[in-house]
Amino acid sequence: MKSVKAWRVGNVGDLQILPGSRHRPHLKRPMWIIVLVTMVVLFLVCAYMYPPHTRGACYVFSSRGCKFEWLPPSPVRELTDNEIASRVVIRDILNTPAVRSKNSKVAFLFLTPGPLPFEKLWDKFFHGHEGRFSVYVHASRDKPVHFSRYFINREIRSEQVVWGRISMVDAERRLLANALKDPDNQHFVLLSDSCVPLHDFDYVYNYLMYSNMSFIDCFEDPGPHGNGRYSEHMLPEVELKDFRKGAQWFTMKRQHALIVMADSLYYSKFRDYCKHGVDGKNCIADEHYLPTFFHMIDPGGIANRSVTHVDWSERKWHPKSYKRSDVSYDLLKNITSVYLSEHVTSDEQRTVLMRPCLWNGIRRPCYLFARKFRPDTLDNLLNLFSNYTTL
Ligand SMILES: *[C@@H]1O[C@H](CO)[C@@H](O)[C@H](O)[C@H]1NC(C)=O
Ligand SMILES: *[C@@H]1O[C@H](CO)[C@@H](O)[C@H](O)[C@H]1NC(C)=O
Ligand SMILES: *[C@@H]1O[C@H](CO)[C@@H](O)[C@H](O)[C@H]1NC(C)=O
Ligand SMILES: *[C@@H]1O[C@H](CO)[C@@H](O)[C@H](O)[C@H]1NC(C)=O
Repeated sequence: MKSVKAWRVGNVGDLQILPGSRHRPHLKRPMWIIVLVTMVVLFLVCAYMYPPHTRGACYVFSSRGCKFEWLPPSPVRELTDNEIASRVVIRDILNTPAVRSKNSKVAFLFLTPGPLPFEKLWDKFFHGHEGRFSVYVHASRDKPVHFSRYFINREIRSEQVVWGRISMVDAERRLLANALKDPDNQHFVLLSDSCVPLHDFDYVYNYLMYSNMSFIDCFEDPGPHGNGRYSEHMLPEVELKDFRKGAQWFTMKRQHALIVMADSLYYSKFRDYCKHGVDGKNCIADEHYLPTFFHMIDPGGIANRSVTHVDWSERKWHPKSYKRSDVSYDLLKNITSVYLSEHVTSDEQRTVLMRPCLWNGIRRPCYLFARKFRPDTLDNLLNLFSNYTTL
């Protein structure tokens, strides 16, 4: 009995003592629960008032699976049949790895009204590099008489070209189409009769052939000569936010040339609504079609700058045209030492946009070609050619 009582007492004692030491936190539990519940309630109220914007948050908060009930509807509009068709073709061309042929060539596409005053200079430029280039000439007005073997019989069928009209884009496309017939042509350069080379052939070839981008000029100009030329007739395919401007003198990779051939949708929008007189505007198709098109379909694949230098510093309707007395070693040295590309907006601010010229991520001189040179500068250029091209 004693032992039992002792046991019980001991037991009771145990019960009184042991729980005693454990009871302190147990006594505070309601307090903890109240604090925790309050926090959770506050948290949920906040979450309800400030809906989460990420997918992860959505999974945490939503009990009915993740249907984004709190998010606004996606602003992406439904594409038309033509847009879907166009985009799948473009995407597949972009995703197809470039076929490197054994003798990759650069195609030089000359867009000229008639004679090519710098044929002799180009002849010097091309000499000794047979098999690594091809020449195509679109002479829209007069059939030129050629002196250089690199130019003889290189004319393609041409049509009349009016400056600022869609016929200019048509001529560019005609040149690209003819040059694409040769599978060795891997990079395509558009040049005019007033363009001259700034470097020797190897430099130009390597700069273009091993560039991972096309050099297509492209910038946003909020002024009257940029966005001011946009027409809402281009909707829904071409929105104002995508409208871009740039000089027409491009170089492009074969894939991009193929995409230009494949496009009829965006081309037709510019043909019909980027022209003189639409909505009382004076839209210039060759300054907007390719910059806008490539900005929309492959913005990361273009350098947003041209490799053809031109001097707009006189701020006239046409760029500066170099005459005989302008052409000196210093002028050419200056042009070949430019490392910043420049765009100026046409609004009242005249904002100057300067960016370093990058080539595969490395800073390099911006320009391979320059315009506009008057025909009488030829002799000066021929004399200086070996000097300035080795700068
Ligand atoms: C060209 O501009 C687009 C935006 O319009 C940009 O996404 C792209 O990175 C730019 N390319 C280069 C080489 O800076
Ligand atoms: C070349 O650039 C320098 C420095 O910017 C300038 O002073 C000079 O007038 C330029 N020369 C020519 C011929 O353009
Ligand atoms: C081109 O190369 C540069 C440098 O490697 C890289 O930053 C850039 O993303 C590349 N662009 C394309 C379109 O491959
Ligand atoms: C151009 O090169 C010739 C020799 O090839 C040389 O005599 C002349 O001084 C050079 N001119 C300049 C401006 O460097």
